[in-house]
Amino acid sequence: MAGTGVFEEIIEGQVFKYYTDGEWKKSASGKSVAIINPTTRTTQYKVQACTQEEVNKVIDSSKIAQKQWAKTPLWKRAELLHKAAAILKEHKAPIAECLVKEIAKPAKDSVTEVVRSGDLISYCAEEGVRILGEGKFLVSDSFPGNERTKYCLTSKIPLGVVLAIPPFNYPVNLAVSKIGPALIAGNSLVLKPPTQGAVACLHMVQCFHLAGFPKGLISCVTGKGSEIGDFLTMHPGVNCISFTGGDTGIAISKKAGMVPLQMELGGKDACIVLEDADLDLVAANIIKGGFSYSGQRCTAVKVVLVMESVADLLVEKVNAKVAKLKVGPPEEDCDITPVVSESSANFIEGLAKDAKTKGATFCQEYKRDGNLIWPLLIDNVRPDMRIAWEEPFGPIVPVIRINSIEEGIHHCNASNFGLQGCVFTKDINKAILISDAMETGTVQINSAPARGPDHFPFQGLKDSGIGSQGITNSINMMTKIKSTVINLPTPSYTMG
Ligand code: G3H
Repeated sequence: MAGTGVFEEIIEGQVFKYYTDGEWKKSASGKSVAIINPTTRTTQYKVQACTQEEVNKVIDSSKIAQKQWAKTPLWKRAELLHKAAAILKEHKAPIAECLVKEIAKPAKDSVTEVVRSGDLISYCAEEGVRILGEGKFLVSDSFPGNERTKYCLTSKIPLGVVLAIPPFNYPVNLAVSKIGPALIAGNSLVLKPPTQGAVACLHMVQCFHLAGFPKGLISCVTGKGSEIGDFLTMHPGVNCISFTGGDTGIAISKKAGMVPLQMELGGKDACIVLEDADLDLVAANIIKGGFSYSGQRCTAVKVVLVMESVADLLVEKVNAKVAKLKVGPPEEDCDITPVVSESSANFIEGLAKDAKTKGATFCQEYKRDGNLIWPLLIDNVRPDMRIAWEEPFGPIVPVIRINSIEEGIHHCNASNFGLQGCVFTKDINKAILISDAMETGTVQINSAPARGPDHFPFQGLKDSGIGSQGITNSINMMTKIKSTVINLPTPSYTMG
């Protein structure tokens, strides 16, 4: 159970503590932030409302710890990460329970998130050992005008303090996707969890604590964005920011100083369906891609662009599957569970109503109870409707009927987002041409968009992000190149 057993020390009374200097502490503010359970819509947990002074101290400790950590042999860093991964997996049940209560993620998916996170940490350890264990050797005479008088040795060195800000929908997994690469590369890590998902993050951090990481190397500060959000992201002690979330990322990137940024800010992933597509496969992928975790995934299918000639049949097949989706509480492992907050539910409802008013066809009756919104396929959507462009982050999927491939590509590329997209066809040549024409970071052929497996590159174009994620890319992003050049008094050429 959350906050018990090995997690007992992370809570006092009703309020979970924050983590710094290898200890669990109460904030001097004496204030807390309530976490509302999306299902019951009552306060489930409380976390510390940290102050700016506490953030300063956290970053100071983080700086000191990083200097020592950078001197820790790579194999030892990897060993500790493997240990943390094992502890995390061992305690998957209480952490998954937090996910169910804080973000209404279905019970089985919550367990999957924790297990996937353990695997991700282990993979970071292994990949780090491989890619950080080697550098480059360059010689000068390849550049015109030079003799071989200079030998250049390059290696990857840490950036310093990495600030990780994960979103509510994968608080644990998208936290470790930043923590693992940062730590293996020799950085220290300050985690600012999302409010909903914070308690799952605090449990995850305790697993790193139990693994025996040095004091100060990992910290987790909770609190109000209005109080410590900008303060953290603009803090001069922070050397790198890795953020996953919404529009806030655009604001952060404008305010952050001269630090490397890794941003993933959502998408409007298009699903282009050609006449020759396997419509059963498409329907299954629209269900998985559009409705899993009630559509609250940046990689969810957010608009279906289907050729008119097969649209009726596809809509019929999707509707048949929508009817089978189980709607209800996450504890009962339902497919569709309450969305994260009332404001989110109101936003989703606004998009649906706008489409209805402008003449779209609701394939199911619109139904809502609190934060729970029943799955809805919206057919005959046109470009003048908000749902054609905006990201609902909820269980509603719009269908736009198209008359040419070009029309589909045009709609996809007219979006300000460019995360992922997918195309369904049996013609691989057409699929490649369409993939090349789609302005998105990834295109899936004959499957719904998805980030994983977690070592694949993951990136968005346009407003969908900055940089590329995936384990290898994140490790590289959280390092910089250091060169040492040996200058020889006379040219030296190696003899054969
Ligand atoms: O919500 C954003 C996540 O990066 C999506 O991850 O494709 O594994 O659901 P996923």
